[in-house]
Amino acid sequence: MPSSALIRNRLATAIRVALVAVVALAMSLAAAPTAQAAGGGPSITKKQFGTLPNGQKIDIYTLRNSSGMRVKILTYGGILQSIEVPDSGGRFANVTLGFDNLSDYVKKSPYFGCITGRYANRVAKGRFTLDGKTYQLATNDGPNHLHGGTKGFDKRVWEAHPVKRHDSVGLMLTYTSPNGEESYPGTLRTKVVYTLTDDNRIRMDYRATTSRPTIVNLTNHAYFNLRGEGNGRILGHELQINASRYTPVDKTLIPTGKIARLGGTPLDFREPTAIGDRINSENQQIVRGGGYDHNYVLDSRGRVLGLAARVVEPDSGRVLEVITDQPGLQFYSGNFLDGTLRGTSGHLYPKRSGFALESQHFPDSPNHENFPSTVLRPGDVYRTTTIYAFSTV
Ligand code: BGC
Repeated sequence: MPSSALIRNRLATAIRVALVAVVALAMSLAAAPTAQAAGGGPSITKKQFGTLPNGQKIDIYTLRNSSGMRVKILTYGGILQSIEVPDSGGRFANVTLGFDNLSDYVKKSPYFGCITGRYANRVAKGRFTLDGKTYQLATNDGPNHLHGGTKGFDKRVWEAHPVKRHDSVGLMLTYTSPNGEESYPGTLRTKVVYTLTDDNRIRMDYRATTSRPTIVNLTNHAYFNLRGEGNGRILGHELQINASRYTPVDKTLIPTGKIARLGGTPLDFREPTAIGDRINSENQQIVRGGGYDHNYVLDSRGRVLGLAARVVEPDSGRVLEVITDQPGLQFYSGNFLDGTLRGTSGHLYPKRSGFALESQHFPDSPNHENFPSTVLRPGDVYRTTTIYAFSTV
């Protein structure tokens, strides 16, 4: 029989071993973000994110690819809630602005990560005429209509279906907007498929059909900070946009109708330039936007799925490329962020701590004959694709 001293000794050893195991487990969990790259094929999981005031449950889907990149998507607004990508040293960070709770998305989101529609961007005075009939939409941005109105696609609950392939994982979201919703004509059946591929791309395929002639302009409104959300301003990011022209705006940010050359202006990003280099210029357009808030007319003119913009963040080495088949790209430098919103990781978001590159048709197209048409008729199918491609330098 072992003596009681021996039993005490063995007990103490067992406790020490257990403590070491607990500490090791805690350390491996803390290191999890950098360990993401270790093994495993693409996966998708679902959890509850929150409950809307009307009792509806909102889910969050986590998509993970074989290289460890993770993307989280909400059924509320089809929101890209988190995008975790590696820097040039393999360290992962969430590079999109957002919140860690549903209530903030419902009450105060400036369109973080959402599907924006039915008409992304502005319609002057909320008014447009189609086939001789004039429609009055909500004016929710000064005198104008913005991003689909008071309760646009960003505030709707989307039905979700996971899609799995051997080298990608996706989430198909559908929403049927009834005839007259937000005063838009026609029942619009909308489908957006987010696909995360093994080469760190988020591909967004949009599709819509209508029961009556209508207008449609869908985009995703993710704000990016390639240093990691909540990690300062985006002024040092180097941006390149493949556009030689843009649509100048009036004081209310509605296009004047001109398609103007960018050459010689501080809005020209054909050569990679830091966002902050010319952002305080006296240029009338920049003053009107409070920074950059302009639609770039892409040189591809939306005829091919091509590279629209490339952003390099020099400190982290992270790179974002926006590839699209749309004719326009709104570059918004986060001028209306004002330091009052507390983001996903608990940090406040100061002015210009995120930027958006929204692939789209031009703002206020229904009121400009010379802009590519945004009319959708019964029998026609609205289809468009945009890709956020991540890499490092
Ligand atoms: C617009 C900005 C607007 C922002 C709202 C952008 O797409 O261009 O003017 O303030 O969305 O978050």
